[in-house]
Amino acid sequence: MNIILVVILVAITTAGSKQLSKRSTEERKIVIVGAGIAGIAAAKTLHENGVDDFVILEGSDRIGGRMRQAEFGGVKVEIGANWVQGLHDNPIWDLAQKYNISGKISDYDDVVIRNKTGNDVTDQAEEAWERLGTAQEYLGEWRERIREEKLPDVSLRVALKLGGWRPKTPLEKVIEYFDYEFEYADAPEVTSLNNTGMNEEDFTGGEYFVTDQRGFGHIVDRLSDEFLSPNDARRRLQLNKVVRTVNWTDTDVTFTTTDGSTYRGEYGLMTVSIGVLENDVIDFIPDLPAWKVEEIYQFRMGQYCKIFLKFPNKFWDDNEYILYAGSLRPQYAVWQNLELPWTFPNGTNILLVTAIADDVQRIELQSDEATKQEIMTVLRNMYGNNISEPESILVPRWLTNPLFFGAYSNWPIHVTAQDFEKLAAPVGRLYFGGEATHPRYNGYVHGGYLSGIDQANAILSCMRKGICKSNQTAVNQGTSAAPTLSSLLLAMIPVIFPVYV
Ligand SMILES: Cc1cc2nc3c(=O)[nH]c(=O)nc-3n(C[C@H](O)[C@H](O)[C@H](O)COP(=O)(O)OP(=O)(O)OC[C@H]3O[C@@H](n4cnc5c(N)ncnc54)[C@H](O)[C@@H]3O)c2cc1C
Ligand SMILES: *[C@@H]1O[C@H](CO)[C@@H](O)[C@H](O)[C@H]1NC(C)=O
Ligand SMILES: *[C@@H]1O[C@H](CO)[C@@H](O)[C@H](O)[C@H]1NC(C)=O
Ligand SMILES: *[C@@H]1O[C@H](CO)[C@@H](O)[C@H](O)[C@H]1NC(C)=O
Ligand SMILES: *[C@@H]1O[C@H](CO)[C@@H](O)[C@H](O)[C@H]1NC(C)=O
Ligand SMILES: *[C@@H]1O[C@H](CO)[C@@H](O)[C@H](O)[C@H]1NC(C)=O
Ligand SMILES: *[C@@H]1O[C@H](CO)[C@@H](O)[C@H](O)[C@H]1NC(C)=O
Ligand SMILES: *[C@@H]1O[C@H](CO)[C@@H](O)[C@H](O)[C@H]1NC(C)=O
Repeated sequence: MNIILVVILVAITTAGSKQLSKRSTEERKIVIVGAGIAGIAAAKTLHENGVDDFVILEGSDRIGGRMRQAEFGGVKVEIGANWVQGLHDNPIWDLAQKYNISGKISDYDDVVIRNKTGNDVTDQAEEAWERLGTAQEYLGEWRERIREEKLPDVSLRVALKLGGWRPKTPLEKVIEYFDYEFEYADAPEVTSLNNTGMNEEDFTGGEYFVTDQRGFGHIVDRLSDEFLSPNDARRRLQLNKVVRTVNWTDTDVTFTTTDGSTYRGEYGLMTVSIGVLENDVIDFIPDLPAWKVEEIYQFRMGQYCKIFLKFPNKFWDDNEYILYAGSLRPQYAVWQNLELPWTFPNGTNILLVTAIADDVQRIELQSDEATKQEIMTVLRNMYGNNISEPESILVPRWLTNPLFFGAYSNWPIHVTAQDFEKLAAPVGRLYFGGEATHPRYNGYVHGGYLSGIDQANAILSCMRKGICKSNQTAVNQGTSAAPTLSSLLLAMIPVIFPVYV
């Protein structure tokens, strides 16, 4: 009897102390923030190198981050990443094949263009495509020259203009929009020539549009299955943990979450989007150094909002892409026909239109009904007044979601490769990963994936060999990005006193 009583008492006391320890600090070798593809790839890399003393803190209730499906119109659609962008040599393509992710290579030539009165003006665009192509060749050559002759960077807009492309008509504007905004989620005026386009240079084979009903994010699930079971005894994945403060030093990093939990790691790895870092929702103690904050603020989060509409019947063209050349400022301009034989079952009748850059904030803040009205105006211009009303509409909100603050990063003009090193560099024991920190493929799923692997290897190298990236001298020098007042005045001297200088 006594023995049983003791056992019960011990059990109660242990349970009680466990209850208490919830409030005390959880100690791990490495704390990873974010369970998108970058965080999961980082954790898997640690695991493969014999390090399992880590925890991943994820603010939402799922893994996958910006790879995400939603149920809509009887099927599952991708509201985030959708294409494997570049096939041969792209590690995500290897994984898509390994996990048998279904989809099809997108045919960007299967395009119809309609003008404001609904006429098919695709043929009229031929000459314009040709001129744009010539300008793009020039743009490519100039990019080479910037690199070889160490010339200053310019924006894509400047390079296109010098290449003879100066779009004036709605038709010219929409085909440019299809090639630029639709890719970078940002305007050519602000996009760097030198530091973009690596994706097209490195990969061939086109872009694969995922329609798999398990989701593009199935790749992340499978990567995670390789080292985590659903009821992981070590609780290495903790969901609904929104990190609020990050206390970093040269020897450790302590994280607190909004539910009051505290985690301390000898190393910390942030994989949150650049949008999250820019929006002051996480307090860094001490403040991040000026060289770091400056780069974070200079880099850009592109906006890309995929609006899905379900109709009772199909009234639109059979082409894969439908462009609307109806205004000088393209809006609701790129449409994807998801009623193709290879997308969803016949009769699903879903159209996808993408809003980009400045349009997204307004759309996310207004009601879905208001957005539907705007969209129907465009569709009636293209297909007449007798078209059916949509049964439902889906407007994903990445920009106003405090776990993302936008779609994906875009490399702006005036951020150099040296600046970029600082963006991705650690401070003390706090490392930075995620798509925005990958020097060649920022903005893409494979950028996120590779950055996770790179940062895990950087941490392993610091842990095991004492080779810690934060010691790089480049990082500790101030920034060259923001000109001082005196340097601006000096630069103006030849303008002010042209005769004397
Ligand atoms: C609409 C859209 C379309 C896209 N299309 C494509 C495409 O077709 N092809 C392509 O290659 N790429 C595309 N991308 C980009 C691609 O999705 C991303 O580059 C990639 O998924 C980013 O992965 P990540 O792990 O770096 O970041 P994320 O996926 O953002 O992961 C970071 C994680 O951190 C979590 N988090 C954020 N803040 C906190 C906090 N305070 N505390 C705890 N957790 C936090 C988030 O919930 C998230 O799960 C698209 C993105 C969007 C949004
Ligand atoms: C891959 O998927 C296709 C269809 O999505 C299916 O027919 C095929 O059997 C699958 N192959 C494997 C190896 O799972
Ligand atoms: C659309 O194209 C047709 C055929 O070229 C033309 O007649 C019509 O005026 C165009 N509409 C607009 C608004 O430009
Ligand atoms: C930050 O962490 C260090 C070391 O873990 C600790 O000494 C310091 O008090 C912490 N500061 C704050 C503001 O929490
Ligand atoms: C779906 O429609 C396409 C053409 O629109 C047709 O070729 C195909 O046979 C149809 N499939 C089914 C299952 O009805
Ligand atoms: C309007 O659309 C309906 C089907 O949605 C069709 O039956 C009808 O003929 C159309 N009317 C005109 C004038 O095009
Ligand atoms: C241009 O790109 C190359 C290669 O990435 C880089 O070495 C160089 O510093 C860049 N130049 C500028 C001005 O950004
Ligand atoms: C990096 O800095 C740490 C502490 O400041 C030091 O112990 C380590 O030897 C340094 N490593 C290198 C490669 O300089």
